[in-house]
Order: sequence, then structure tokens, then C-alpha cells
Amino acid sequence: MGPPGAGKGTQAARIVDAHGLVHLATGDILRHEIREGTPLGVEARTYVESGRLVPDEIIIKMISSRMLAASRGSGFLLDGFPRTLAQAESLDRTIEAHGVSLDAVLYVRVPDEVLLSRLGGRRSCEGCERVYHTTANPPSQPGICDACGGRLVVRKDDSADVIAERLRVYQAETAPVTAHYRRKGLLREIDGQRPIESIGAGIDDLLREVGVR
Ligand code: AP5
Repeated sequence: MGPPGAGKGTQAARIVDAHGLVHLATGDILRHEIREGTPLGVEARTYVESGRLVPDEIIIKMISSRMLAASRGSGFLLDGFPRTLAQAESLDRTIEAHGVSLDAVLYVRVPDEVLLSRLGGRRSCEGCERVYHTTANPPSQPGICDACGGRLVVRKDDSADVIAERLRVYQAETAPVTAHYRRKGLLREIDGQRPIESIGAGIDDLLREVGVR
């Protein structure tokens, strides 16, 4: 968890590679569906591109089947879900019903002024969604993804007005979800202002503490 631009996707890519987990990122799934023009993509497009949340029932349906399939393997990492209390409560019910448990909820804390410069310099791969930053995390060749050779683009929701809306929505809808997990004793706070590798090393320590190998 964490606000837009906190570095969730950047750290998630490292974690799933290192621990052999399935990466379930609701934003990535939605952007893929939008690019493919599927019925879900058509329904979600205006929400995603204007920085509003896609309605809970659509998101819950979209993620539940993927999560249950992944839980039968070596485990999964949720990125960008849950984002409302209704989503968190639905997740609680789903995992309880299927005998799955959450090891930890990682919350990456970053102040707003840092988020703005991160989102302003972000470039994302059209093909595999890997993220870069023009100065903090540049690709080896400008405009080309190191991982898949795809084209790097500026996300439609990384314009200044949509970023402002995403930050507002985060405070109103998603920040309260951290309290839900703090009450359950699952929340682990991470200082997201350090360099990418140093945050990653801190997350590895946390994951070891909660028994994720
Ligand atoms: P989503 O794709 O989840 O967007 P987000 O939460 O706004 O998060 P971002 O992807 O913008 O940021 P991030 O934290 O992953 O940061 P990143 O690693 O890229 O969701 C998009 C939209 O989909 C939502 O607005 C909504 O419409 C919809 N949606 C998704 N999930 C939903 C749900 N559950 N319910 C309803 N609607 C949903 O890093 C950012 C930049 O910073 C990069 O350039 C990176 O290289 C750089 N960077 C990262 N770490 C560092 C560091 N330590 N130092 C310097 N630079 C860094």
C-alpha cells in the first residue's frame, strides 16, 4: 500500500522476482484491459484516466479469481488492492473462506512533494508495465524497456490535474485502509524516501521476519 508514486510497483517487481510470487497489480490489470479494449477495459477507462477509483464490485470480481488461482501456487503479492474499506473487508472474507492468510501489509510512506516529482518523471513500459524514472531509475537506452524492449510512455493519469485527483482520492478512500491493517497487527511501515535498493533491502528484512522465504 501507499500513495500514487510511492514506489509500490517498483518494489513489487523486485519482491516477486526474488520470492517467486505472482504479482497481482490492479492498476496493471486495468491498463492491460483498457489497451485490449475488453468490456472490462471499456467500463474502467474513464475512471482510470480521470484518477477516480473503479467501483468496488468490478475490482473485487476482477481480482478474486486471479487471487484464488495464485494462492494454489507459491503465493501472491497484491499491489494497489485493497484501496477502500469495502475492498479490504471483501478480501478478509475471501481469504478466510479459502483458508489463505496474509503474511504482511507493506505500507510505503512518502510525502506529497516527493510523489509529484516521481510521477512527473515516470516512464512506463507499454508492453510489461515495468516502471522507470528519467533521473532516479533510467532505462539503459532512452525510451526502451530493459526487460522486454517495449516502448516507454507517460501514463495518461500522470498529468498534473489527474495526479492531484489521485492524491485526493487516496487520502479520502485509501488512507483509512491502513488503519484497518494496523488494527489487525499486519501493517509494516516503510520509509519510501530512500534509494530504491535500500528500500528493497529493508523490505527483504521485513519479509524474512514474517516468514516469507
Ligand atoms: P495504480 O496503477 O495502482 O496507480 P497508483 O496507486 O496511483 O500507483 P502508481 O502506479 O502511480 O505508483 P507506484 O506506487 O506503483 O509507484 P512506481 O513504482 O510506479 O492505479 C491506477 C488507477 O487504476 C487508479 O487511479 C484507479 O483508477 C484504478 N485502480 C487501481 N487499483 C484500484 C482498486 N483497487 N480500486 C479501484 N480502482 C483501482 O514509482 C513511481 C515513480 O517513482 C517511477 O518513475 C519510479 O521509477 C520512481 N521511484 C520509485 N521508487 C523510487 C525511489 N525510492 N526513489 C526515487 N524514485 C523512485
